[in-house]
Amino acid sequence: MSGAGGAFEPAAAAGLPLSAPPVAAPVQREPVVVFEHVSIGFGREPVLEDISFQIRRGDTRVLLGPAGVGKSVLLKLTNGLLRPDSGRIFVFGQEISAMREEDLFELRGSIGTVFQEGALFDSLSVRDNVGYRLIEEHVSDDEITRRVTEALRFVELEQTLNKFPSELSGGMRRRVAIARAIVTNPQLLLYDSPTGGLDPITSTTIIELVMKQRDVAHTTSLVITHRLQDAFVLAMHHYNRETGGMTPLPAGQTDPNTCFMMLHQGHLVFDGSTRDLVHSEDPFIKEYLS
Ligand SMILES: Nc1ncnc2c1ncn2[C@@H]1O[C@H](COP(=O)(O)OP(=O)(O)OP(=O)(O)O)[C@@H](O)[C@H]1O
Ligand SMILES: [Mg+2]
Repeated sequence: MSGAGGAFEPAAAAGLPLSAPPVAAPVQREPVVVFEHVSIGFGREPVLEDISFQIRRGDTRVLLGPAGVGKSVLLKLTNGLLRPDSGRIFVFGQEISAMREEDLFELRGSIGTVFQEGALFDSLSVRDNVGYRLIEEHVSDDEITRRVTEALRFVELEQTLNKFPSELSGGMRRRVAIARAIVTNPQLLLYDSPTGGLDPITSTTIIELVMKQRDVAHTTSLVITHRLQDAFVLAMHHYNRETGGMTPLPAGQTDPNTCFMMLHQGHLVFDGSTRDLVHSEDPFIKEYLS
């Protein structure tokens, strides 16, 4: 991990040319997540209203929006922890919003979730935290250790196998949470504010892991972040296997599979490319980006 690599230059994003460089004709991959007119509220106040979007296989969708707008609610709808009041949600072609709890358990085995603040179990070792799902599936002890070690190697924390969360720094705990999310080799990864509360350098190492997962495993992902810097670093870099860190894309280029959504007052006010985001004329988006 390069750690300090990938310093952010806001001007680099603002300087993206209006016209995209020529790219190959986009291949229409199948949708992995589909929201159709989804609404949900708690009590009198609606939180999300009439939300529709799709995330296709191999896409990384960055979800932006102010605190309390409903980003975590949208993520919990995606893995079936919450059910919509109206509308339908499909994941891998299955209607998750209408599924029985038993079937949801199985489907969640294909979805890795990094919860906001990491949400590790303090009383369990790193091995048991990362292997939690495998323990529930009654995988053998040796196999759990093998797979947990592999997931920890991905986040460069193999040495923490027998430690407890209280012995780790905030950034290390977040990396353990990522290892827990990827240990089942999920086809869909949901990251809820993976850099929230971390210092800028540690945040960069976390974003580098998100990028590594995107560019090495090509896992379909939803990435919630408050930090615009993280979003643009993801959009404007790729993971370099030779250096084990991130490398900027050539000037004017962005990762074609990384797109953005923005929530504002319960509505999806943006769903599109990095280029369209930075050139948006929407007053709220312009203010958010400034
Ligand atoms: N289980 C719940 N019961 C009642 N209200 C809830 C519940 N979950 C979320 N809310 C409310 O829904 C709204 C959106 O919450 P959510 O956690 O999705 O915001 P967020 O965009 O993730 O914010 P942050 O950026 O601070 O993480 C808030 O007003 C919150 O209080
Ligand atoms: Mg949240």
